[in-house]
Amino acid sequence: MSRAVRAVMDLAALRHNLRQVRRAAPAQRIIAVIKADAYGHGLLPVARALAEADVFGVACIEEALRLREAGIDTPILLLEGFFHADELPLIRRHQLQIVVHGEHQLAMLESLSTQTPSIPAWLKVDTGMHRLGFSAAALPAAWRRLRACPSIAPEPGLMTHLANADDCNDDATRRQLARFTAVRPSSSTAVSIANSAGILAWPDSHGDAVRPGIMLYGVSPMLGERGRQRGLRPVMSLHSELISVRRCKKGDAVGYGGSWVCPEDMPVGVAAMGYGDGYPRHAPSGTPLLVNGRRAALIGRVSMDMICIDLRGLPEAAVGDPVTLWGADLPAEEIAGHASTIAYELFCGLTSRVKKDYIDG
Ligand SMILES: Cc1ncc(COP(=O)(O)O)c(C=O)c1O
Repeated sequence: MSRAVRAVMDLAALRHNLRQVRRAAPAQRIIAVIKADAYGHGLLPVARALAEADVFGVACIEEALRLREAGIDTPILLLEGFFHADELPLIRRHQLQIVVHGEHQLAMLESLSTQTPSIPAWLKVDTGMHRLGFSAAALPAAWRRLRACPSIAPEPGLMTHLANADDCNDDATRRQLARFTAVRPSSSTAVSIANSAGILAWPDSHGDAVRPGIMLYGVSPMLGERGRQRGLRPVMSLHSELISVRRCKKGDAVGYGGSWVCPEDMPVGVAAMGYGDGYPRHAPSGTPLLVNGRRAALIGRVSMDMICIDLRGLPEAAVGDPVTLWGADLPAEEIAGHASTIAYELFCGLTSRVKKDYIDG
């Protein structure tokens, strides 16, 4: 083995987290969101482990085709629908479901010559996120037009996306839900609203189909929380090892720019891990990591391939000792907090040189 950088995914934890979704939303269909390479966890192994999901949610047709080419026949929803008309024949051939969020998509569907109503669709309404979706005023006409499209399967659903559901005290979610209820065409129209935060904190958002993403990977979407508080288990742990341990002198500046100066004579470790692997360059001195399973702190700037570690609490640490950057005993949420980002970005940011390993339990 050469450079020891690897991400280990616990598939049993993934299945456990899916069960937690079922517990929270027992009557709903589960659209497991596995876009962006399953939030960096690896699309195909994750899809296979989540075989109990009712539908997979992906961002684009390329992600859907990877699933189909691997023999996965679970229904797949394209969360942003299609981008160009030339995707529509593939969408039909592979029986993909689409989200229709804009006028241009409706126009493309209307000009499709097919008479086979075969594409299941969700019409998206913008209830306050102001990203994708028809406005409440435009919705009735869009709904009529979608239902009249010859290629669209009967009974489309209505969906929206929550912008602030990670904050239980933010009234914006209540306002979004009220706007959604007001535009629902009929009480029999299937609805999908809830992301992970909706599932965990907003029961009124559960509707007919929920769309969990980050909670499947063991992270709580709620502000200030850790997945464990919600009974979730972290799926990914990121590992490396010490490639150097040396004694620095009081006053020695460590790393690029010398932003960290040794306050005393002390051991400094170097781990093979850097922003070239996707470790966040903005993680400041003091960001925790585990050496031999015990907490230590990053010091100095993150380089492309290396980070430096304050080993004063671990004087016995030696070259080859394991270093964990996040995982079961060091929540990704905690690292994200130090690096002023979110666990979603940490996971998605891992680069191709990080080897992925899979364990089951
Ligand atoms: C439309 C849609 N639904 C659901 C999700 C899942 O969100 P989360 O990962 O916060 O559960 C996403 C993710 O960005 C999304 O774009």
